[in-house]
Amino acid sequence: MNQAKFITFEGIDGAGKSTHVAFLADLLRAAGHAVVTTREPGGTALGEALRELLLHQRMHLETEALLMFAARREHLAQVIEPALARGDWVISDRFTDATFAYQGGGRGLSLDKLAALESWVHPHLQPDLTLLFDVPLAVARQRLAASRTLDKFEQEQADFFAATRLEYLRRAAEFPERFRIIDATRPIPDIHKMLEELIPTI
Ligand code: ADP
Ligand code: TYD
Repeated sequence: MNQAKFITFEGIDGAGKSTHVAFLADLLRAAGHAVVTTREPGGTALGEALRELLLHQRMHLETEALLMFAARREHLAQVIEPALARGDWVISDRFTDATFAYQGGGRGLSLDKLAALESWVHPHLQPDLTLLFDVPLAVARQRLAASRTLDKFEQEQADFFAATRLEYLRRAAEFPERFRIIDATRPIPDIHKMLEELIPTI
């Protein structure tokens, strides 16, 4: 529990990830850790500007993947790597698994191309823990419809999210040492309890 950890939250839109970031950060702070919370795409001034483009503008699939990794490069240099070097814990609402799931699974971009970008942008860094908030599509859609105006990704059709979710689950099976799948259909207090139980195991 002493060494700084890099924790990422993943899942399809509406799974409920963002709801739990602050809760986990508070738990870790209560355990005496300095914690940085951040998100992708975004986390820096340039990254947030790229996020605006990515979430609202149509573009070529490869442009989309390259911009995700460009924002990530800046995020790593300005936020994630300095925080970990200081000994702070980092919780990021999405990271590279999202690019594999959305641009790879959802949009069908070659996973080899994404792996090449990954090995360029962060050859040596992987999250210590990735929490995959998993829900059936119908539940995610219902939560989204009730909560906000939908962005470019959230307006995609069911088959896009089915393929995105499948790629997340495939990666969870490929990297079982860092992934934990959270049944995000459970009520929020149950998920908080699961996170409390998880802390001592990190
Ligand atoms: P994401 O970040 O995964 O897109 P959000 O955290 O923004 O999802 O949650 C989407 C909506 O679903 C919000 O209105 C949130 O309050 C609600 N929500 C999140 N988790 C749950 C849950 N376990 N049960 C019911 N509603 C939830
Ligand atoms: P997110 O911040 O989770 O959306 P919201 O604030 O609406 O909960 O993520 C923004 C969107 O960007 C989301 O639909 C997933 C998408 N995305 C990708 O397609 N690839 C990526 O690499 C990342 C980080 C996000």
